[in-house]
Amino acid sequence: SRLHPGKFYAMPESPQIYKQILMVSGYDRYFQLPKCMRDEDLRADRQPEFTQIDIEMSFIDRDDLFGVCEGLMAHVFQKALGVKLKLPFPRFNWHDAMSRFGSEKPDIRFGLELKAITELVKQSDFEIIKKVIAKGGVVFCLPVPGGSKFSRREIDELEGIAKTYHLPGLAWVKIGKTGWEGIPAKFFPQTLQNQINQKVNAKVGDLLLFSAEKFAAATEALGQIRLHIGHKLKIVPEGWGFSWVTDMPLFEQNDDGSWAAAHHVFTMPLDEDMKFLESDPEKVRAMRYDLALNGAEIAGGSIRIHRKEIQEAVLRVIGLDAKDIEAKFGFLLEAFKYGAPPHGGIAFGFDRLCAMICGVSDIREVIAFPKNKAAQGMMEDSPGDVTPAQLKELHIRTEVAKKKSK
Ligand code: AMO
Repeated sequence: SRLHPGKFYAMPESPQIYKQILMVSGYDRYFQLPKCMRDEDLRADRQPEFTQIDIEMSFIDRDDLFGVCEGLMAHVFQKALGVKLKLPFPRFNWHDAMSRFGSEKPDIRFGLELKAITELVKQSDFEIIKKVIAKGGVVFCLPVPGGSKFSRREIDELEGIAKTYHLPGLAWVKIGKTGWEGIPAKFFPQTLQNQINQKVNAKVGDLLLFSAEKFAAATEALGQIRLHIGHKLKIVPEGWGFSWVTDMPLFEQNDDGSWAAAHHVFTMPLDEDMKFLESDPEKVRAMRYDLALNGAEIAGGSIRIHRKEIQEAVLRVIGLDAKDIEAKFGFLLEAFKYGAPPHGGIAFGFDRLCAMICGVSDIREVIAFPKNKAAQGMMEDSPGDVTPAQLKELHIRTEVAKKKSK
């Protein structure tokens, strides 16, 4: 701030807290098209400056909000494309979405679903995988119909995807007339091979891909391979595959063992998981929901915490002490004291929605002056240098570490 030396304007998830405060103060509905600024790594569907359709409502439950969002999508798709969407959209809880599609934003336009086979694999002699299970890992299988005609090079490509998504390796077998063919085959007696074929609904000529890791990694890697194969085999039909994904984990663990909010800290835990809040954060699921469309996340939101003691407990889990909580969120907790109504909301990624409606895969196509993949505006040369005088006016001194030469 130029006017307030040494101070910064910064608010997590802005305008998230403001919209909640509006609910607490007695407005029962809000929507806005805010510009959001986020300094995160860019991808084809991310920009540092983007637009949301931001919504918040009080005295609602999840179904009320889903109804509003489905109505909005039906209207927009009817007006923009003349497409009549089928309502309501299917719903999957997070665990099922990951288990079936290996994604928290599944493309449900095609099958090719994953299958959990941890229990069956325990009966094999496949030591590497059994060690993973002993450490709390799981085993998933992706059966690829007709996949045994894939060449070595094509399978190497799938292994490359698995590695990118943090799987140490990708085990595979082809189903031949006399049984499995491939390195893992010898660890699985014939009867077990048959049981697995049956469980994953596979037949001669198919390819079975196996992942063994902690749940999120095991499923996500196969989910990415599923997408790759779906497009490769051209089995992804045109059309609009909307689905809701709900009940995600509330927290995720950092490398140093501490906890962070998986979405944001204002999300209400599920009632039945409240008892684990401070003892076993990994078990706590959130009253959260995302709207997925053709494999992209086009909206995300949650039912919020409206009680002071729950908000304080969540902030404690992510490592804030009473003093931090008061300094950072005191005004919100104060507001909750006056009988805050239950409330919840969601935000659509407006640029993502426009890109999908226009049939383009990169949101830069629908933004007037986007930044490039390196987060730069080449035309106006931004981000650029500022003069010492400008920095002085803002009371900022910069210190840029020199890049190490190789
Ligand atoms: P969230 O962070 O999930 O939630 O964002 C909501 C939606 O905004 C879009 N989006 C983006 N689009 C382009 N570039 C980005 N960098 C980018 N980041 C997000 C996505 C996403 O689904 N305050 C909460 C919403 C809430 O809880 O109500 C929030 O911002 O389509």
